Order: sequence, then C-alpha cells, then structure tokens
Amino acid sequence: MDTIIGIDIGFGFTKATDGKKFQVFKSIYGEAIDFQFKESLLKNNQEQDEHIHIDVDGISYFVGELAERQSANRQFTLEQTQFISSATKTLALAAISRFVSKESESFKVVVGLPIGHYRQYKDEVRKILRQSHQISITNQQGINQDTLIGISDVKVIPQPIGTVMDRLLDDVGKPSDMRFASEKIGIIDVGFSTCDYTISDKARYSERGSLTTQNGISKAFEVISSKLKDSCGINIELYRLFEAIETGSIKIRGKGYDLRKITQIAFQQLAANIASDANRIWSDDWDMDAIMITGGGGAVLAPYLQPLLEGVIIPIEQDLDYRLHNVRGYNKYGRNIWPQRKAPMES
Ligand SMILES: Nc1ncnc2c1ncn2[C@@H]1O[C@H](COP(=O)(O)OP(=O)(O)OP(=O)(O)O)[C@@H](O)[C@H]1O
Ligand SMILES: [Mg+2]
Repeated sequence: MDTIIGIDIGFGFTKATDGKKFQVFKSIYGEAIDFQFKESLLKNNQEQDEHIHIDVDGISYFVGELAERQSANRQFTLEQTQFISSATKTLALAAISRFVSKESESFKVVVGLPIGHYRQYKDEVRKILRQSHQISITNQQGINQDTLIGISDVKVIPQPIGTVMDRLLDDVGKPSDMRFASEKIGIIDVGFSTCDYTISDKARYSERGSLTTQNGISKAFEVISSKLKDSCGINIELYRLFEAIETGSIKIRGKGYDLRKITQIAFQQLAANIASDANRIWSDDWDMDAIMITGGGGAVLAPYLQPLLEGVIIPIEQDLDYRLHNVRGYNKYGRNIWPQRKAPMES
C-alpha cells in the first residue's frame, strides 16, 4: 500500500508528514561538497543537526541546515521563480527521503503551492513529481543507499487550504467537523516571506478573494534586525532572530539587548498592513462566516491581528506547531481522496 505524504514547501521551511511523524527543515539546498572535505567538517557536530543528503538526477545535494552550513555552492530558494520546478522536486524528494525505510517504496503525495504560484505551476509540479525517482540517500556516516521512490499519484492544492482540511477531516480523512464543509471561511496564512489570503467556500478553493503579498513575518524581523544593527553594528541573519524574539532578548558579543519594545512595534505595524489588505480584498465578501489565521508567522502575529480584522475569528488549535497545520491537512486530504483499505492481515 502506498504511503500518503503531505508536503508543504514554504519559502522558509519545508514541512512534511505521513500522519504520524512530522519533518521540518529549512527550504534551502545546495550542491554537496566533496566527500572527504565534508567528513572532516562534520566530525565536530555530528549529532547536532538533521542530516539530509540526497542525489537527484546525478547531482548530490545537501538540504536544509546541512546546506546552510556546508554547501560551498549557491543556495536556491523558492524566491527565484525560475527555479520553482527544480526546487520543488529536490525539496519534495528530500522530504520523502525522511520517510523511506526500504530500497523501493511507493507514495502518494499531496503538495501545497503558494497561492501566487498555484495556477501557473500546479500541472508542472504534478508532472515532475508523479513518476519513479531513483535517488541515493547518504547518511551521516557517509554510507549511501540507492532508493527508488515511486510516486503513483500527486495532488496539488493551494497552500492555506490545508488548514481548512485539517479542521474538516479526521485522522483517516473522513469529514468530521461539518462546519468547515458548509461555511465560507477566509484564511490568512502568514509565512516566512509571504502572506497568503484565500477563501474556502464550502471546502472549495475560491480564486476570487485570493492574494499573495510580501508581508511575511520576515518583514518584521527585518525591522528588528536593522534596529539591532544600529545599536550594535552587527548584521544578524533573519533566521537567527526567531528564538531571540520569542524570549525577548538577544546576547551579542556578551552584551544583552532587550527586544520587547521594538518587537511589539514591528509586529503591530505588520499586523496592521496584513489586516488592512484582508479587509480590502474581502470587502465584498460580507457573507463570509469566519476567518482563520495560520502559518508559523500567523502564530506569532495572531494576538496583534485579531482585533484588527473585520469578522469572526476561529481560534487556532494549539495542539501543534502552527507551521504544521497546513501539512497535517494535506495528509488528511490525501487519506480522503485515496482511502486506504486495511490489508486483511492488519484488520
Ligand atoms: N520552532 C520554530 N522555529 C522557527 N520558526 C518558527 C517556529 N515556530 C514558529 N516559527 C515562525 O514560523 C515562521 C515560518 O512559518 P512557515 O513555516 O509557515 O513559513 P513558510 O511556509 O516557510 O513561508 P511562506 O508561507 O512565506 O512560504 C518563522 O519565520 C517563525 O516566525
Ligand atoms: Mg507557508
């Protein structure tokens, strides 16, 4: 029986799940560096980070943290539109490689595309993924295993719809909370570098009322980072700020900086921009029943955003990292469209 995997490839993070296990890694990859060199570099911090090293189409890639730390070569992200196809393939196979346990394994995949890319790329992404992929997976010890990943079916959906599916469907993909099947719901998905707006009308994606802006959480991080640069002269990479902002302070060269005030200002400003876009694009959708906020950035901004939105807000479920709500929804959706019959032995 094919394993159903949901994959959410964001500008910040790639998220994947088979319904039991979740994988999250940064959406970065680069050509793997020479093996001997790599080995000596890795010795010190072997256990520390997840290790994703796969060969696809004859090219050896480091993915996620490993690429960030080690790849000498260029690092592609989804930002460059022309790379969307190749990035999707590499990141999707990297994600699936985390769920492989045999030499040959078969999958069905539900993958989300950003609203802004959905129309243009959905067929292409489906075509690229829906085939057999001969890849090689190299583990931390440098041992590689040839693996055949067969993808027998692919469904591409607009990213934020995953959050609706997550609430509508139960773990085996059966509709359980009918509210989400019958109502008109607006979804705001605040990610790392984009903010997606869309409408689920009776669990159907509506292109009207959909929009992608650049108001991801990184906008606020940039403000905080540039303020920090003013006071300490150092350029802090945005991805390093997440923890500091959560705790409210950062230590640079031994000196502590309080980030609470500037964070509040930056989040307030970003939330105001996001809410005003929502209120504008949905101004004619007065028949909308409720609004949901999702995405990793949505988690952070929700308290600022809620009072500014016109409409009823459905509180986000607190049971899971907000970054993972879409992808859990994709997996449930996969179970809905590809119902799994239990093998006689199992039942
Ligand atoms: N444990 C965590 N580690 C890092 N970031 C986190 C964590 N929990 C929440 N976040 C927040 O989630 C954000 C990323 O959210 P998400 O994964 O939804 O973005 P994305 O889908 O990759 O981006 P986009 O939607 O723009 O393509 C981070 O920028 C950070 O603010
Ligand atoms: Mg996202």
